[in-house]
Amino acid sequence: MKAFFALFLLAPLPVLADGEPVTYHRDIAPIIYAHCTSCHREGESAPFPLTNYSEVSRKARTIRRVTGDRYMPPWHANSEVTEFLNVRRLTAEQISRIDRWVSAGKPEGDPADAPDAPVFTEGWQLGEPDLIVTMAEPYEVPADGPDIYRNFVLPLDLAEDKWVKAVELRPSARGVVHHSLFHLDDSGTARQLDGKDGKPGFSGMSFRRSGSIGTYVPGASPRKLPGDLARPLPRGSDLVLSTHFHPSGKPELERTTVGIYLTDTPPARKLEELQVPPAFGRKAGIDIPAGEANFTIRDSFTLPVDVEAYSVSGHAHYLCTTMKMTATPPEGQGPPRILLEIPDWDLDWQDTYFFAEPLVLTAGTVIESVITYDNSRDNPENPHNPPKRVKWGRESTDEMGSITLAGVVLHSDEQRELRLSLQKQRTELFAALGRTLKDKKVLARLPAIVKRLDRNDNGILEESELPRRLREALLLRLDQDGDKSLDGSEIERLEKWLARIETGDES
Ligand code: HEC
Repeated sequence: MKAFFALFLLAPLPVLADGEPVTYHRDIAPIIYAHCTSCHREGESAPFPLTNYSEVSRKARTIRRVTGDRYMPPWHANSEVTEFLNVRRLTAEQISRIDRWVSAGKPEGDPADAPDAPVFTEGWQLGEPDLIVTMAEPYEVPADGPDIYRNFVLPLDLAEDKWVKAVELRPSARGVVHHSLFHLDDSGTARQLDGKDGKPGFSGMSFRRSGSIGTYVPGASPRKLPGDLARPLPRGSDLVLSTHFHPSGKPELERTTVGIYLTDTPPARKLEELQVPPAFGRKAGIDIPAGEANFTIRDSFTLPVDVEAYSVSGHAHYLCTTMKMTATPPEGQGPPRILLEIPDWDLDWQDTYFFAEPLVLTAGTVIESVITYDNSRDNPENPHNPPKRVKWGRESTDEMGSITLAGVVLHSDEQRELRLSLQKQRTELFAALGRTLKDKKVLARLPAIVKRLDRNDNGILEESELPRRLREALLLRLDQDGDKSLDGSEIERLEKWLARIETGDES
């Protein structure tokens, strides 16, 4: 891993003396090939190719601007405080070299000085996948209009449990696919919603997610999980792609193909994802007054056992401005360290950042996230003009906020302890609700209460039939299929949950 990392850092450039002329072939092409062409070529996400002198010189002024302000190459983590793999960032020297080249009138120089053109793998980057699935029908993305969030259900029909080493997504219209999250659904709720509005897929996030096998963002290469690590893919699960489209100026048809790399062997240690705050910040108090320029949420989690961390990634919407996750070891075990710092959050580039070397975080380490938002008029990303109060929600004009640390327990016999802590973190979200229901002795009286609330006597508690004060929390905790009502099986879940609270198995 170390050698791989070093390759990316050692730019293959001779150092130029001040005043020495800069030419395209000798001095600029190596930068472009190493840092731009992977996206800026035919069939990739960037809007135009950068593969030769004429393409680069035509865009020279814009290139000077976007490299100067570090808009390109896209990379939002501070890689000076945390060492990551595959850092996409130019050095100050490379940026100034581009600037000098443009100022000097873009001299081409001698083609004999040019480095070899880069060779990119066509087709599957990791070789032939074990399982290939394609959307049944293409989805039409209009030429313009607002961004589209759409879920597509791809039945996998696996007869036995498998484990996923990597997923590679191949969009048919790469330029409009902004990012895609690979959810699993083992309950069939997504299938039920699929195509209801007459178009392939469905919108909204009200299906029951039972797991995740990764994400796709443009420009990030697919990567197999290290060692024996793999994510569970239980039999009977459907793959649900949650795709964000960005219209491109011309109508496009998207029919995504997904290649999945599998193994039959479950890993010795399970990859755990620690979200701080949990549930994308659902209970983190995200309620940002209109005009508030500096709104902050913070949350922390104490590791119960030693953890080996591999990667870190953030999630938020437009108003978010900065994110930071720090790890503070117990007293006397070294200084706090920054795991992720994003000084200028951009919803468009939600990368997963892999640590250059797996980080060992000892038991007792406090993982803290601090996330800030700007809901003022001065935030050019503000989707509301004039600004309005913004709360937590699933639409991109609502807000979310959390940072996810992925890793494994260092000692395999401590898996259960970490699991339990993570479960506790989630259930604490609903602890207050649980206490209220316990105090009111709801369990003993549940059948009578349901009967009374169910005014139309159809065996289902519709949203309007739920007590107003508890409505939102009850639906969040119990409404599995997202239809804003509690049916028989969901009421049964309430009963089981209350029973666990009574016996002290759950707070
Ligand atoms: C990870 C993929 C990726 C890499 C690497 C990348 N780009 Fe881009 N680039 C994009 C995408 C996607 C867009 C269009 C969306 C946008 O503007 O954010 C873009 C847009 C641009 C634009 C147009 C910006 C504007 O304001 O019109 C320029 C110029 C550019 N890139 C230059 C570069 C240069 C120079 C490099 C290398 C130093 C580079 N890019 C590396 C993906 C990439």
